[in-house]
Amino acid sequence: MTETTSTGMPRIGDTAPDFRAVTTHGELTFSEWQNKSWVILFSHPADFTPVCSTELTEFAKRSSEFTAKGTKLIGLSIDSIHSHLAWRENLKQILDADIDYPLIADIDMQVSKKYGMLHEATSTTATVRAVFVIDPKRVVRALVYYPMSVGRNVDEILRLLTALQTTDQNACATPVNWKPGEKVIVPPPKNVNDVKERESHKEYERYDFYLNKKSL
Ligand code: BEZ
Repeated sequence: MTETTSTGMPRIGDTAPDFRAVTTHGELTFSEWQNKSWVILFSHPADFTPVCSTELTEFAKRSSEFTAKGTKLIGLSIDSIHSHLAWRENLKQILDADIDYPLIADIDMQVSKKYGMLHEATSTTATVRAVFVIDPKRVVRALVYYPMSVGRNVDEILRLLTALQTTDQNACATPVNWKPGEKVIVPPPKNVNDVKERESHKEYERYDFYLNKKSL
């Protein structure tokens, strides 16, 4: 596994780059702070902006759902620690939000550059809305990028995380629009024995030899 690729940003299957950073919860080394949890690392363009305020608030209000999935949240923007601290207080006042996860003050852009969060055609000083889902082995399992003008969907990020954890635990895949509790996809057969074997699974919802669903 590699830490970076030819594009200079981690992609699915790469090891998430380690870093040291100043955050609202103190200075930390990412790998130590992660401590073998799942992590949602997300960037926002700037403090004291409206869409970002709604996103950070929603992550905070749903943080117990991430904790229940063994997952830590950590935010990032190219703002100073003083700005982060002031915005945190402001969000408490105006939106009743307790931003209980750390916010990285990436003022020197070290982390943004390592993670490809700066899309220069959009801005050279503000990160786009990036989300990295990182597993306990520090492998990047999914990336999501949104533009400046569109807020992310925390339901979808939770769904993505749950789907990854479910497919890991059950050696399966998830179909379009899957939600927890729904049937999953049996991985496609690799040889004639696999094809024969699945015919014996009368409990499978079978469409053809390659498309079978099952309940967990
Ligand atoms: C916002 O969060 O509202 C925002 C941030 C940067 C550019 C545009 C909108």
